[in-house]
Amino acid sequence: MHGPAWLDVLAPHAGRLAGEPLAALLAADPARATDWSLRVGPLWFNYARQQLDRAALGALCHVGVEAGLPQALRRMVDGEPVNGSEGRPALHTALRSDLGEGDAARAARALAVDARDRAERLAERVLVSGVTDVVNVGIGGSDLGPRFVVDALRRQDAPLRLHFLANVDGHAAARLLHGLDPARTAAVLVSKSFGTQETLLNGAILRQWLGDDARLYAVSANTERALAWGIAEDRVLPMWDWVGGRYSLWSAAGFAILLALGAERFRLLLDGAALMDAHAVTAPVAANMPLLHALLAVWNRNALGHDTHAVLPYDERLALLPAHLQQLVMESLGKSVRADGTVVGAATVPVVWGGTGTSSQHSFFQALHQGTDTVPCEFIGVAAEDHAYRASHEALLAHFLAQPQALANGEPNADPQRAYPGGRPSSVLLLDRVSPEAIGALVALYEHSVAAQAALWGINAFDQWGVELGKRIAGGLLAAVQGGGEPPADPVTRAILAEIRSRRGG
Ligand code: F6P
Repeated sequence: MHGPAWLDVLAPHAGRLAGEPLAALLAADPARATDWSLRVGPLWFNYARQQLDRAALGALCHVGVEAGLPQALRRMVDGEPVNGSEGRPALHTALRSDLGEGDAARAARALAVDARDRAERLAERVLVSGVTDVVNVGIGGSDLGPRFVVDALRRQDAPLRLHFLANVDGHAAARLLHGLDPARTAAVLVSKSFGTQETLLNGAILRQWLGDDARLYAVSANTERALAWGIAEDRVLPMWDWVGGRYSLWSAAGFAILLALGAERFRLLLDGAALMDAHAVTAPVAANMPLLHALLAVWNRNALGHDTHAVLPYDERLALLPAHLQQLVMESLGKSVRADGTVVGAATVPVVWGGTGTSSQHSFFQALHQGTDTVPCEFIGVAAEDHAYRASHEALLAHFLAQPQALANGEPNADPQRAYPGGRPSSVLLLDRVSPEAIGALVALYEHSVAAQAALWGINAFDQWGVELGKRIAGGLLAAVQGGGEPPADPVTRAILAEIRSRRGG
C-alpha cells in the first residue's frame, strides 16, 4: 500500500520541525507574522502560527504545484466529470460565477441564472402572501448550509421568520409547530432527491398541519417526484444532479436564504463566493487562500499527524458554521479509497468540531491548552460589530487575540498544573464584518479547500456512499420496529430492539 508521493517530500520537514517550539519558530522569523497572511475581499487569512518554517512552507507549496491543485480546481469549474463514481461534474461554482469554460459549465450557468430569477420571483410571491413564518424542511445539505447562512445574516426586522426542520425525530416537529400559526406559515421541502425519508415524513406532518397545500413549496433535482407528491408546478424550483447537496446553498436549495435576506443581499452572498472563485482559479499556489488552507490542513493531518481540527468562530452569528463544515468537510473527505478504488495510504479527513468563543473557552478550551492531544485551531473573528455594545465587542476581540497567542506561546511555571506547554498551532480568519459578501467568500473558501484536499489525496469529494448502508439497514428494520416482519438477524440489534419493546410496551 503506497501513500501519496508527496508524503516523502513533507516527512523530512516534519521530522526537522517536530521538536521545535512554535514560539521559537516565530521568534526566529518575526516577519512571518505579516508575511504569512493574505486578503481576498472582505476576508483576511493569517497562518503565521502554523507549526512550520519557510523551508517547509516552500515544500508544501511545491507539493501543491506538483499535485496540480490549480488544474484540479480548473477541471471542476469547467465542468469535467470530477464526481467519477456518479459520472457527473460538480458545478456549484456555476451557481455564482461565470468562470467555467467548458460547454457543461456554460450550460449549467445559464440554468442557474434562470432558476435564480425564478426563485426571486417566487420569493416575492411568498412575501406578499400574508405569510409570517416559513419552515425549511430538509436535512444534510438541504438544511445545514441554508440554516447557517440564515442564522448568520438574518435581520431582526426581516418580514419573514425562517425555521428549519431536519431531524426525523417527531419532537423536532412538535416543538417547532407549537407556537406557529398554520394559517400564516408556509413550508418549503428542500430535497435534491425528493426521496429522503426524514424530509418526506416531516413534509407529510407539515402538509397535514398546514391544512392547505397552497402554502407548500419545493426545491428538488427530481421535480417529477415533487409534483407527484402534490406540490403545484409553479411552486417547485429546480436544482440539478451536478450540484452536491452540501454545496447547494447557492442554488434554489437556498430559497430560505433568499426569503430571509431578500434578493439584493442574496446576490451579494453569491458575489462574495464569486470573488473567492475567481481568486481560487487565478492566484498562484503560494498566494492562493483556499490552496494554502488546504495544504496547511494536509500538513497538520499527514505531516504532523493531528487527528482533529477545531473551528472556533468568535461571533455568535457564526455559531452554526462548525455544523455546516462538519458535513462539507467530513462528508466530502471522509473516504479511505481514491477515486480509482485504490487505498489512499494516508490519513484523510480529521474530525472537524468546534464552537463559539468565548463560550467554548469555559468548556473545552482547557483541553486545547493542556490536554495531551494537539488540536490545530481555526479562529474566526469579525473586526466590526453590528450592535451597540461596544465594550462587549472589545472584550470579545481581546479574547480572540489572546487564545491563539496563549496556545502558541504557552507559559512555563514551576508548578506543572499551572504550566502551559504552548506549541499548539492555529490560523486566523478575519472578516471585515458579517456581511453577505464575507459569508459568501468564507463558505466558498472552505469549498475550494475541500476540493484541493481531495485532489491531494486523490479522492472524490462529491459522493457520499458511506451513508447508504445505515439507511438501507434502517429501511429493513422499520417493519421489525413497527412490530411485524422478521426479527433482526443481528443478535445485538435483536437484543436492543427487545429492550426497546419491553420499555415502550409494544
Ligand atoms: O446524508 C446523505 C445525503 O445524501 C446528503 O449528502 C444530502 O445533503 C442529504 O442526504 C439530503 O439529501 P436530499 O437533499 O436528497 O434530501
